[in-house]
This record gives sequence, C-alpha cells and structure tokens, in this order.
Amino acid sequence: MNTLEFIPKPFSNLLEKANFTWQTPSNIALIKYWGKSNLQLPKNASISFTLNNCHTITTIYFTKNRGVEGANFNLFFEGKKKEDFKPKIAQFFTRIQQYCPYILWYDMEIHSKNSFPHSSGIASSASGFSAISMCLMSLEQELQTIKLSKEYINKKASFIARLGSGSASRSIEGGLVVWGNHLEIEGSSDLFGVQFPYKVHSIFKDYQDTILLVDKEEKQVSSTVGHNLMMNHPFAIQRFAQANENLSKLSKILQNGDVKSFINLVESEALTLHGMMLTSNPYFILMKPNTLEIINKIWRYRQENNSNICFTLDAGANVHILHPKKEKEKVNQFINNDLAQFCQKKQYICDSVGFGAKKVVSIKE
Ligand code: DP6
Repeated sequence: MNTLEFIPKPFSNLLEKANFTWQTPSNIALIKYWGKSNLQLPKNASISFTLNNCHTITTIYFTKNRGVEGANFNLFFEGKKKEDFKPKIAQFFTRIQQYCPYILWYDMEIHSKNSFPHSSGIASSASGFSAISMCLMSLEQELQTIKLSKEYINKKASFIARLGSGSASRSIEGGLVVWGNHLEIEGSSDLFGVQFPYKVHSIFKDYQDTILLVDKEEKQVSSTVGHNLMMNHPFAIQRFAQANENLSKLSKILQNGDVKSFINLVESEALTLHGMMLTSNPYFILMKPNTLEIINKIWRYRQENNSNICFTLDAGANVHILHPKKEKEKVNQFINNDLAQFCQKKQYICDSVGFGAKKVVSIKE
C-alpha cells in the first residue's frame, strides 16, 4: 500500500501564528465497518451517507514553538477544557506525525463543538477527527509553496482522519462515501474514503435520516472494543465477505433506484452488525427495549402504508430512520404520533444527505 504520497515535501514558509475553522459532518453507514487490523485498516469495505445537520465545528489555533518531541495541545469542547478526550487525540497525533511533521512545530489549541446535543449517543469521533484533519491540511497548505489540489487535500485529510477513527475517513466528502478496497468500486482504498464514483439515482440524492434518540448514555462497550472482538469471532470471515458482497449489491441499487431492495439490504446490515455483537465473546447488547419497539413499529407502518421507510443502527441504541424526501411529511407525522414516545425526552434529530467538509474561517500571520 502506497502511503508515500502523504509524506509532504520540505516546507519553507513557517508562519508565526494561524488559525483555521472547519465544519465537518457526521455520517451514517449503510454497509457497516466492524472489524479492523493494524493500523486502522478495515476488514471489509463500507459505505455511508454523509449527513448535513449533524456536524462538528472545530478551530485550531497554531502558535509556533521551538520544536517539541510529541505534539503539544490543549482541548476545549463546547468552551470547557476536556481532559478525557485527550488520550485518543494524543494517540492520533502520534500516528500522523510522519505525515504531518508540522504538528511538532506548533502549539495547538483545539476548540470544538457539535451541532447535535452533547452525549446524544451520536458518535462524534467521525466528525471530530475529520474536522481536526481539515484544520491540519489548511496549515499544511499555508506552509507549502506549491498549491495543493482540493482532491489531494481531501484524500490526505481522509487518510489522516482514518488514523483517528475509521469512520472519520468517510466524513470529508459529501453524498455517498466508500472506505475500504473493493474490486467493483473504482478508486476505493483501505487508506482513505472516496466519493461513490458512479451516477447515483435521484431518489438517493436527498435521502432523509431522522435520528431517534433512544439512549443518550455513554455506550457500555466502545466501538474500539467491539472491533477487537471481531478478531476471534466465529463468523468473522463470513461477515467480512458478506459485507463486500452487500456493497456490490448496494452499488447497483444506488444506481438503479430500487428502493425496496435498498430497504432489505440496509436493515439486514444493521441487524447483522448487532448480530455480531450478540455473538462476540464476551457478548454484549447495545440495543434497548425501545430500539425494538421502534423497529417493530417501523415494520408495521411500512406494511400498512406501503411506505419506503427503513431503519439502520450504528453501534448504539439510537435508531436512524431513512426515507425518500417525498415521504417526509407523512413520516414526520408517524414519528411524532407513534415513535417520539420511545425517545428520551421525546427527542429526535431531522437530517438529510449533506455536502461534506466546509471551511469556515482562515486567519494567518
Ligand atoms: C458501527 O469508526 O467509531 O459505526 O475506528 O475504532 O474509531 P474506530 O471505530 P468507529 O466504528 C464505527 C462503527 C460503526 C459502523 C460504521 O460507521 O461503519
């Protein structure tokens, strides 16, 4: 695997100070990444919708120092110093040091906030690491004399974001993003996410995702632990093969607009992900009773109303309801009348497919 392209050319313009602000999205996987090898290489290819409303906004203030051994940074989350996120970010900085040597030449103050409620059970690692990665790429561009292409910036940002959290590699580009080498997806790679390279049927371009907040507590088992349990999992080999086959099927569905097959595949992926958790050793369950109440209600509603809604789950109890835009009003009514009661404080978030990372501010001295 060729990672040489991510080692930068010698730098010339060392700025004294700079700060950059990026807004980057969360994403929801349709084909799930669950199982990895070192360092953050996925055992199967995955694909996600980039979200629009659920995002992180991060500013990094860079101040030139005399050169340090390990990255020197402070972290503020929603205005407050956040010590418990620091170890994962410190590990990330160590992993990317050879690709981003400038992180040792600047003291960094990271200020981050999420658009979604704090501890809503929505993973913020994807949008969190992609935002930091885009800020670093903005600094890299300023330090280089040559102009980096947008394509290279996005590719390298995704490459380094992956080293923070696998799913973060899918939180740079908009629309549909594939991460993981797949024979039928041109340009796909284990190293970074790429936009789904084929023409997407119009129905999937503005798909809606309503996230029902069933459980806002911190998960009992982290994704990292869950991924590791796939190492000696009795069904691992079949699962990784199945995910790749499912991506071949989904690729065709996304192009031909076959919503019924989309529903079947996406729900099966979600339940298989949780099936892997149930059959890990030690085994664990992240769904809650209300997750199942909601799933059953969705199935009944779909049958009775000839609707095209479906659900997916990430590694938690919250339910993502996916549906075509033209069903939005009816689905909202259904959620309000029948599903909100199963959410904590009746909370849910309406979202849709989004456009990817957006630069907000750039100041340099
Ligand atoms: C179930 O990307 O959070 O959401 O690489 O250890 O940070 P790490 O894991 P993470 O795993 C995401 C798992 C998932 C499925 C997916 O997003 O594909």
